[in-house]
Amino acid sequence: MTIRPADFKPFPAGNDWQVERDKMKNVCRACHSDGWINDFYEGFDKAVQEYNDVYFKPAKAKIDELYDKGLLDKTKYFDEHLELQFYELWHHEGRRARMGTMMMAPDYAWWHGFYECKARYNVIMEEAEHLIKTGEKAYIYPNYPNATGDTTKPEKIFGKQ
Ligand code: HEC
Repeated sequence: MTIRPADFKPFPAGNDWQVERDKMKNVCRACHSDGWINDFYEGFDKAVQEYNDVYFKPAKAKIDELYDKGLLDKTKYFDEHLELQFYELWHHEGRRARMGTMMMAPDYAWWHGFYECKARYNVIMEEAEHLIKTGEKAYIYPNYPNATGDTTKPEKIFGKQ
């Protein structure tokens, strides 16, 4: 889910997003009126909210249901098709939808973004429903090329754990 930087637990930002946004708005003020600027940010916040509420939350709830029912395996991430689809929803077309909106790139926001989120969302739901209906467990990839599965946090960034 896309959240404010201060709420991002692994690397919580030590600042206030509202203060930072106001600094950015001041840059915009060199050329635009407040109405124009606020309208842009309102639209951007709505796009992020839309991604979170319409795509992320229901897909996450479905994936969690599969974990609870033992149809998806929680031991390792990325070794099942649905885990990968869920990641792509956020990081592939979902990221393009959000960044495309912020960077005022309608083609990315829509065709490479929300439009593809819809397709991915339905792939996730269809596959999940199939597993629930049949009680079949998801296929586990025996090998994900060049992935070690090691999730140790790098000491350089996180210090001694
Ligand atoms: C140096 C002047 C300048 C600054 C600074 C600036 N803009 Fe603009 N902006 C423009 C101009 C000029 C256009 C019209 C470009 C065009 O129509 O080709 C524009 C267009 C836009 C548009 C319309 C885009 C579209 O697709 O129609 C939006 C929204 C916008 N700016 C928002 C912002 C925001 C938000 C900021 C600050 C983060 C900002 N601008 C900073 C000059 C500026």
